[in-house]
Amino acid sequence: MSYWLGLDTGTGGTRALLVDAGGHVAAGFTAPHEDVQMPQPLWAEQRPENWWEAAQAAIRGVLNQSGIRGEQVAGVGLSGQMHGLVLLDASHAVIRPALIWCDQRSQPQVDAINAKLGRERVLAAIANPVLTGFTLPKLLWVRDHDAASYERARKMLLPKDYIRFCLTGEFASEVSDASGTALFDVVNRRWSAAMVEGLGLDKELLPRVVESPEVTGRISARAAAATGLKAGTPVVGGGGDQAASAVGNGIVEAGIVSCTIGTSGVVFAHMEKVAYDPAGRVHTFCHAVPGKWHVMGVTQGAGLSLQWFRNQLAPGADYDQLTAEAARAPLGCDGLYWLPYLMGERTPHLDATARGGWVGLTAKHTRAELVRAALEGVSYSLKDCLEVIEELGIGVKAVRASGGGARSPFWRQMLADIFDKPFATLETQEGSAYGVALLAMVGTGQYGTVAEACGATIREVDRTAPGREAAAAYARRYPVFRGLYPALQEGFRAIAALG
Ligand code: XUL
Repeated sequence: MSYWLGLDTGTGGTRALLVDAGGHVAAGFTAPHEDVQMPQPLWAEQRPENWWEAAQAAIRGVLNQSGIRGEQVAGVGLSGQMHGLVLLDASHAVIRPALIWCDQRSQPQVDAINAKLGRERVLAAIANPVLTGFTLPKLLWVRDHDAASYERARKMLLPKDYIRFCLTGEFASEVSDASGTALFDVVNRRWSAAMVEGLGLDKELLPRVVESPEVTGRISARAAAATGLKAGTPVVGGGGDQAASAVGNGIVEAGIVSCTIGTSGVVFAHMEKVAYDPAGRVHTFCHAVPGKWHVMGVTQGAGLSLQWFRNQLAPGADYDQLTAEAARAPLGCDGLYWLPYLMGERTPHLDATARGGWVGLTAKHTRAELVRAALEGVSYSLKDCLEVIEELGIGVKAVRASGGGARSPFWRQMLADIFDKPFATLETQEGSAYGVALLAMVGTGQYGTVAEACGATIREVDRTAPGREAAAAYARRYPVFRGLYPALQEGFRAIAALG
């Protein structure tokens, strides 16, 4: 029997998943990563070498655990955290720790790009504004502050594409992840000459780009020895974690959106024709479905809010205990609101200086309200994402929940109430790793198209309907949440200015 391997280089760990042709998960194994290094507030770095160590451990782990042999793996798909900057030198060694997706240090570089090219020209070139989280301003930060590393750099890779290099020796990316670099012409699905030449960058730094299900290379003899896979096994392009997760959730046609709560939170919609928000509040990127696009809104500190809460205020508690505690507090938390801007915010504020916090505390509040408010605040922020997507004229009938956060029935009900839409749960909630295993099936000919692969494998098992009263109660509170950021914006700027 054949299996396909999906490998997701996340933030907290690397997940390896083996899936059969019917879409059944045979085994999954996660190898944790070292902690994200935050040498300064809003900086975030990881060692790419540690991702490769974790990839080897995860692949070995999933093969050992399942008893499936490397020869039975017919294809590999790669997914990963997006936007990270991996720099390799002439001998293909990693030059410095990667600045990862949530790193927010590059506002001066974003300003410099806009000053040089003009915001309008940038939007026309890449269908998005340049944001601090994207790869290009990170590269320019290295140029401006670590010139020795910049001078040594010969290749720039995204996190999963560094793993591809380790597995196959090939420098390649695919359209969905490349879209998040701010160097990619999303409309025409190729590197943007306007950006690369306009900024005087060396285009040799960039890998070649393919559509997501295409085979980019084969497992090398060295990688085979390190992982237990068979040399020669094809590796397909795969996808940035959000596009990959969307494939794993069957978001490959219009009408259904996904809401994924990992460290960040994302509301994601498929687009047949490319459209973008002139204000750039949501990202318009190429989909992992050839010739299609997607739009997504991002809450930077979604699962991160709960993780931060647990680490700082409830050490030792697990997430089920925390959601059970939250369930003891009343809806609306007696007027307590949480702003989830722990790593600045993308949708809808596009503000790297935004900060998190509770507003509305009184002496009566307990930890139960603090944690419930965190869940409500993240959910309101995801609703902000949905609103912008609907403003673009994208109709939304139902939402498919995925990611660790949406596993909690309590949080799922809260999301259904706040969105006022049914939330569907899928049989397989493996998100990105599952999505790229499906892409590997397409790339190796098991299925003809991504839609066909999704149709044959993805099954809804449950629907959480919004409660009428709860939805109405949240609808009264949502405008209060929306008013808090504008009221505090000047304060955030002042905090940032003082350091
Ligand atoms: C997407 C994004 C996150 C990261 C980390 O734009 O930044 O999804 O890829 O998961």
